[in-house]
Amino acid sequence: KKTDNQMLVIFGASGDLTARKLIPSLFNLYLAKQLPENFVVLGVSRSNLSDEAFRERVVYDSEYLKKKTKDLDQEKIKGFADKLYYEDLGDSYDTDYGALRKRVETLKEKHNTSGNIIYYLSTPPTLYETVSQNLSNAGMNAQNNGWKRLIVEKPFGYSLETAQELNKGLHKYFKEHQIYRIDHYLGKETVQNLLVTRFSNSIFEPLWNRNYIQRVEVTNAESVGVEKRGGYYDKSGALRDMFQNHLLQIVSLVVMEPPIGADAEEIRNEKVKALKSLRIMTDEKELFENTIRAQYVASKVDGKEVKGYREEDGVDPDSTTETYAAIKFYVDNWRWHGVPFYVRTAKRMPTKVTEVVIHFKKPHHQIFKGSGMQEMDNKLIIRIQPDEGILVKFGVKVPGQGFKVERANLDFYYSSLVDTYVMEAYERLLLDAMQGDATLYARADEVEAAWEFVDPILNYWQSGKDVRMYGYAAGAWGPQNADNLIEDDGYWRNPTE
Ligand code: BG6
Repeated sequence: KKTDNQMLVIFGASGDLTARKLIPSLFNLYLAKQLPENFVVLGVSRSNLSDEAFRERVVYDSEYLKKKTKDLDQEKIKGFADKLYYEDLGDSYDTDYGALRKRVETLKEKHNTSGNIIYYLSTPPTLYETVSQNLSNAGMNAQNNGWKRLIVEKPFGYSLETAQELNKGLHKYFKEHQIYRIDHYLGKETVQNLLVTRFSNSIFEPLWNRNYIQRVEVTNAESVGVEKRGGYYDKSGALRDMFQNHLLQIVSLVVMEPPIGADAEEIRNEKVKALKSLRIMTDEKELFENTIRAQYVASKVDGKEVKGYREEDGVDPDSTTETYAAIKFYVDNWRWHGVPFYVRTAKRMPTKVTEVVIHFKKPHHQIFKGSGMQEMDNKLIIRIQPDEGILVKFGVKVPGQGFKVERANLDFYYSSLVDTYVMEAYERLLLDAMQGDATLYARADEVEAAWEFVDPILNYWQSGKDVRMYGYAAGAWGPQNADNLIEDDGYWRNPTE
């Protein structure tokens, strides 16, 4: 695909994300010769930095860049760093962007970037509308001399209402097709591979429904705690931080109907339909029975004392913010009627892993009685990370007399495709936005549909009514009660056990 000459203007450029993700990703794209010939990055924020100081900070002195890239050739580093510039906005993002506009014009002339601009908002979401409005006041959203696109980071809203307000606010200044809402999980190869697994193989899709699938499980576990983000996390929690966005995106790819084509609108139309078919829980009894929240408590992990959530910096000692969420729900449509979905996400688990498990029903008529087949069900496990790949569990005969059945694995690892360079999520997503491909970005209606499902759960949890807050030892697989969610005496698949 062609990448037009363009400029990337990053608001919030002195922040963590720019140094940690954006610049290393751009550098890797530069090394892979994926950036357009005429390309400039203009970092914007309220810190007082010169171009040189900005380059030092995000390139020359950056630990992140060193970690993320293999090629540390000094000439290439300089070649890349020379494309970076910085503009200080002064005290506030809510100001006249006249000087910024001039800077953009000068850089555009000097580097021949031809008026195409991506504005990347890596600021707190409360500033999205303000920045857009000021861009508009300065005439910087005008499309008459090149396209303009806007990338916004999560969190996209705090609730359904705030997400709707945010969408309305942005739509005053940018059209929906110009807005790219980033969800970095969609940039992960294995998440995209869900579509390919389903829709380019004839062996899975015929079984992908209520007739053959007993339940669907999605686990997202992180071994880290809230790290240095206690202040942010305590206002967010697992449901907002991971479930509303990343996990419901994964769910939508599992649930959706086949799109008629692979373009952005077709795929996203089907995803919205999928999200709208999640059964919204309104009844308190239903919410009580199908949702579990918990917080990690101090414990020893690998011989080291680890703080409990309420002791973390920036966290209220009486906090009722969850670091663990497990939700059971149904999907009200033809394909999924009656199939339970179990989705959980948490910090301070024994390991970092994300996977989708499709549990198939047992054969209706059991021939090999008493042979171990009773416990045997087929599973398709899509490992999103780490050890990216696909695992199928099936029964084989144990050699010897009789018909004893044992479980065997068919296992594919992405890493076996040694020659393929797998782009990191942010690299892929940035390149897509540069090329105007929004397939892997969330559309306004998708985000709102996801909030519609999550809102009642959050409200119920915040109401305090009968809502238990469980504790789980840091480094354990969450509260035991979470197994009670699973029907028929089932239990969560804990990937490392
Ligand atoms: C972010 C969350 O969106 O995703 C973090 O805010 C979380 O809390 C991170 O750690 C996980 O991303 P990944 O790609 O490491 O699974």
